[in-house]
Amino acid sequence: RRHSSDSESEPEEPSSSEEEMEEQKQETAQSSASDLNSAAKPGEGVEEAAGNQKPAGPGAPVCRAASSKAPHKPAVFVPVDRTPEVQEARLKLPILAEEQVIMEAISENPIVIICGETGSGKTTQVPQFLYEAGYASSNCAIGITEPRRVAAVSMSQRVAKEMNLSHRVVSYQIRYEGNVTDETRIKFMTDGVLLKEIQKDFMLSKYKVIIIDEAHERSMYTDILIGLLSRIVPLRKKKGLPLKLIVMSATLRVEDFTDNKRLFPVTPPVIQVDARQFPVTVHFNKKTPLDDYSGECFRKVCKIHRMLPSGGILVFLTGQAEVHSLCRRLRKAFPFHKNTTTGGGDDKEDSVEEIRRFKKSRKRKKVMTLPKIDLDNYSVVPVDEGDEDRDAETDDDDIAGSDTDLDLGDGHSEEDEKPDSSLPLYVLPLYSLLAPEKQAKVFRAPPPGTRLCVVATNVAETSLTIPGIKYVVDCGKVKKRFYDKITGVSSFRVTWISQASANQRAGRAGRTEPGHCYRLYSSAVFMDFEKFSPPEITNRPVEDLILQMKALNIEKVVNFPFPTPPPAEALAAAEEVLVALGALKEPPKTGRLKQQLAAKLSCPISPLGRIMATFPVAPRYAKMLALSRQHDCLPYTITIVAAMTVRELFEEFDRRVMSEEETAKLKEKKGRLLQMQKIWAGQGPMQKLGDLMVMLGAVGACEYAGCTRKFCEENGLRYKAVLEIRRLRGQLTTAVNSVCSDAGLYVDPKMKPPTEAQATYLRQIVLAGLGDHLARRVQAEELLDDKWKNAYKTALLDDPVFIHPSSVLFKQLPEFVVYQEIIETTKLYMKGVSAVEPEWIPALLPPYCHFGKPLENPPPSYCPETGRIRCHRPSVFYRVSWQLPAVEVD
Ligand code: CDP
Ligand code: MG
Repeated sequence: RRHSSDSESEPEEPSSSEEEMEEQKQETAQSSASDLNSAAKPGEGVEEAAGNQKPAGPGAPVCRAASSKAPHKPAVFVPVDRTPEVQEARLKLPILAEEQVIMEAISENPIVIICGETGSGKTTQVPQFLYEAGYASSNCAIGITEPRRVAAVSMSQRVAKEMNLSHRVVSYQIRYEGNVTDETRIKFMTDGVLLKEIQKDFMLSKYKVIIIDEAHERSMYTDILIGLLSRIVPLRKKKGLPLKLIVMSATLRVEDFTDNKRLFPVTPPVIQVDARQFPVTVHFNKKTPLDDYSGECFRKVCKIHRMLPSGGILVFLTGQAEVHSLCRRLRKAFPFHKNTTTGGGDDKEDSVEEIRRFKKSRKRKKVMTLPKIDLDNYSVVPVDEGDEDRDAETDDDDIAGSDTDLDLGDGHSEEDEKPDSSLPLYVLPLYSLLAPEKQAKVFRAPPPGTRLCVVATNVAETSLTIPGIKYVVDCGKVKKRFYDKITGVSSFRVTWISQASANQRAGRAGRTEPGHCYRLYSSAVFMDFEKFSPPEITNRPVEDLILQMKALNIEKVVNFPFPTPPPAEALAAAEEVLVALGALKEPPKTGRLKQQLAAKLSCPISPLGRIMATFPVAPRYAKMLALSRQHDCLPYTITIVAAMTVRELFEEFDRRVMSEEETAKLKEKKGRLLQMQKIWAGQGPMQKLGDLMVMLGAVGACEYAGCTRKFCEENGLRYKAVLEIRRLRGQLTTAVNSVCSDAGLYVDPKMKPPTEAQATYLRQIVLAGLGDHLARRVQAEELLDDKWKNAYKTALLDDPVFIHPSSVLFKQLPEFVVYQEIIETTKLYMKGVSAVEPEWIPALLPPYCHFGKPLENPPPSYCPETGRIRCHRPSVFYRVSWQLPAVEVD
């Protein structure tokens, strides 16, 4: 059963009797106990174990079991009843050949790094190795973290299936849901879930092994977990309950973990799993197309399909709209009656306009060879009713390719055609938001006699391995969200990928046989690429992370052993926001400047901050929740916060590649949504809550209507978002109830609309949470030039910002507003806007106010730490009596 690349180590026989197993368990217990006598320092015990192994370093992160050592004997063997098919498939995975080496390293070292190509079997097999070697017991599970929710769910299902075990034993936990039971032995979860668990139980005593998977993705929580675990592992050893840490990564920049003495004082061993990788010939374009890389992809795929022998094609594009648009183009270029190969089913989608365009282009391009289809028959293909770009919801059924081919006028004559050109093309989209069952299609073999063509975003780069890919078409770009480190202003930009990503993408072509990668950019451009993409933590605001760390009593965040530390200005900006929100205690303003500065970067958490940290949402939203226990506002705040967290509740109407007919339909839908939004915005004081009232109204209306897909489609809501908001409302309600045992809240999906008074309280609550996102309209006398017309000034930006045209307050231009976020497109736009009254500001946001002269009526004292306003006398301004659950206030 055990395979080893080392001929000296014979496969172990599984122990048969239970007695034997029990004996061996005791042996393991003793040997681990003897480890404990030494002092526990991070990474301790690695050195002697690593022995004569090569220290891992840049360029040589490979280590193998020292052949002079006695072969590793697994002390325990827990049998797993796999089906012969599963067993056969497993044996083909490269990681199986390294099982012996991996298990030896884990048994001898507290921390082990496993590197291997995507698809080598790390995620599915390592948990099984550990399970069989007895690392899971009734009170100690094996935990695996994934940066993506999809991966946590699908991998738990895959492993359960391979091991022939129920989901009660191999389970998952993600933000909204899970199927963990008392019997759970292998638990897949998102990295955020484990971070929350560390807050409750710093020692992670429920686990014997923690696997941090996909570490190369460098997601923010993964980075932070590795930092925390580098300290938890020695602490557990000290306590006599050793914890194993396994970091798994694709072969990308391991040096950030291995060459980081602050993180791991003793370099952990790195096991390299050699995947069978076939040579991939890389073809660069002579010229780099400026904009139309999508069109270039289309031409390349056509050419490959027409000229090259069989083998799957994988195209990398940047976003889901692009993915769908290319899928559509390819399917139209290679129309095909599905029932001729797959049998049954309607050939969906097509549009009159597209056919017209196709006919036109045929006329225009003289060199184009005639497709072997009857163009007049084309028009009998039913017109697609759905909106294709609704991606996850759209039924992108198997629309297979065609029995035809298309010459694109690239100079090749018909004589160039290879026999393959008559193969139908089986086109599938792939991106992370796609429903899992549709993602799963790429794993299945394409219908016989077709060529697979997957059009993907960069999810196909490392997270998923598609079998049978021989050709990769790489546009060289990726769509990323960029944040301003200080202001948090974000924008989506399409940028060049890194060299590492480009190589990773190319590698996808050589999994089963030698392949080809077509890069749609020149080699000179490639040489200018960054070597690696920057880790997420260096590229986004970190206030949520800092609050979580402070809740773990890590005060001096700058001293934390980050694999890559966030920029100092991002850390400072985060502490400042958290102090202003009252989540951190204010630093003293006396003493030396240097001391003051140091204090500013190590503020301890406040009682309010502790409450905020228990809510699984951004700190600004968490503050709103913490302040909402009054006037029955909580259910409304919970709904608003859930809607803001889930984002994109409303359909975006993408007009690209649309026929006239489709555009007309779209206009109608858009009109309907605008009309509904006006209704949801309500009247009078409600209306002033602005876009947040619209979200509240939309969720409320949808729940009243039974939360059906039909209602969502008719009214421009994203069904998936609505379901997610519902789940998050449930989760936030549970969180509020656990902080405040007497709240006795329950989720009533069909909540009544808020009263006018409640709407006003809600605006105050929103102001208290989004206080640093306050904007004031520029008055006529302040107009510097035309670019400031209808503009707003914010505390953090010098440039004018505007209310987004999609906002219900777009035309009303209230004097003061708070916004959910600023997005930079053609201008700086505020989204999620609510109006606030100026007189609330001194009371709720004293740090943001400058008082020119002493006020005649000073605002009642406000305690930012508790959010409590002490009203010395009745005041028309301060109608809110802030009440915090579980905080003592005078
Ligand atoms: O983690 P790593 O990328 O090293 O590989 P893995 O995710 O464990 O996948 C191992 C193999 O299982 C690959 O060849 C996948 O294509 C296959 N697999 C699958 O067929 N279906 C899944 N749901 C997951 C994995
Ligand atoms: Mg994996």
